[in-house]
Amino acid sequence: MSIAKSAGWCSLLLLLAPPIAAQQPATVPDLDVPFVPTNQEVVREMLRLGRVGPNDLVYDLGCGDGRIVITAAKEFGARGVGVDLNPERVAEAKDNAKRAGVEDKVEFRQQDLFETDFSAATVVTMYLLPSVNMRLRPRLLSELKPGTRVVSHAFDMEDWQPDQTATVDGTTVYLWTIPAQVAGEWRWQTGEGRRYQVNLQQAFQQVSGEALVDGRPAELTEAKLEGDRLRLAIKPEGAAEPVVFAARYQDGKLVGVAEGIRPDAAGGTWVAERAGSPPQG
Ligand SMILES: C[S@@+](CC[C@H](N)C(=O)[O-])C[C@H]1O[C@@H](n2cnc3c(N)ncnc32)[C@H](O)[C@@H]1O
Repeated sequence: MSIAKSAGWCSLLLLLAPPIAAQQPATVPDLDVPFVPTNQEVVREMLRLGRVGPNDLVYDLGCGDGRIVITAAKEFGARGVGVDLNPERVAEAKDNAKRAGVEDKVEFRQQDLFETDFSAATVVTMYLLPSVNMRLRPRLLSELKPGTRVVSHAFDMEDWQPDQTATVDGTTVYLWTIPAQVAGEWRWQTGEGRRYQVNLQQAFQQVSGEALVDGRPAELTEAKLEGDRLRLAIKPEGAAEPVVFAARYQDGKLVGVAEGIRPDAAGGTWVAERAGSPPQG
């Protein structure tokens, strides 16, 4: 073959060859956390601690090979979304979901967890790093619905104390429940005509405050917040026992039924309105 002819073949081959970039393995974006899979027993404990069930939508932020979301679907009946920045992990997770027969219940996305909208989640799972947890913390607290559970493998969230922990296979898993924002002044009146007023301070799920009954100082003997559920016990001046109010935070109001030592003490249903706007921060 002449040199001219072989040069022609070379050009043709070059034209037919895939571009150089397509021959190289896909570049992996800079990861905030390397891939280290959670041991399967720890996965199950995380999902048990998060009380995952058929009504849940579980988001795993940095999902790796998809094992947490796949186990949530296969063994706990939940639906799930996994996001990972590494396309290889996402492809692996999709394959694993197909093999486990749960691809109709789960979804995997190649996405930066810092840009993921996870507000639809009822449970968020994470196996990240302390600094990554702390970067996510403000978004978890402001974007997730009150009552959403957050479960982290191995790493805590500093001064946001967990509601529960469990130790399995030598590692700790942490559970938090997103608290409703109940700080501020609330007023309500019961069926029997008593006027209640509380001024609540809040740090994460810890609530404290002061109370007035019919304009007179009363003792707030208990203030317990769990997700969107608030329980207040208020002892009016001179009373032997406190009256207990159990409420649900809903659309910016506290909607509840007075329990009381005498169930009828506070007279049926009540709704507490905020006096003024909630404190900022
Ligand atoms: C420690 S692994 C945990 C995997 C899985 N959640 C588990 O527990 O088995 C962390 C994962 O986060 C992913 N990752 C790191 N930085 C990320 C980011 N900014 N956005 C999304 N995923 C990220 C990594 O690719 C890796 O798969």
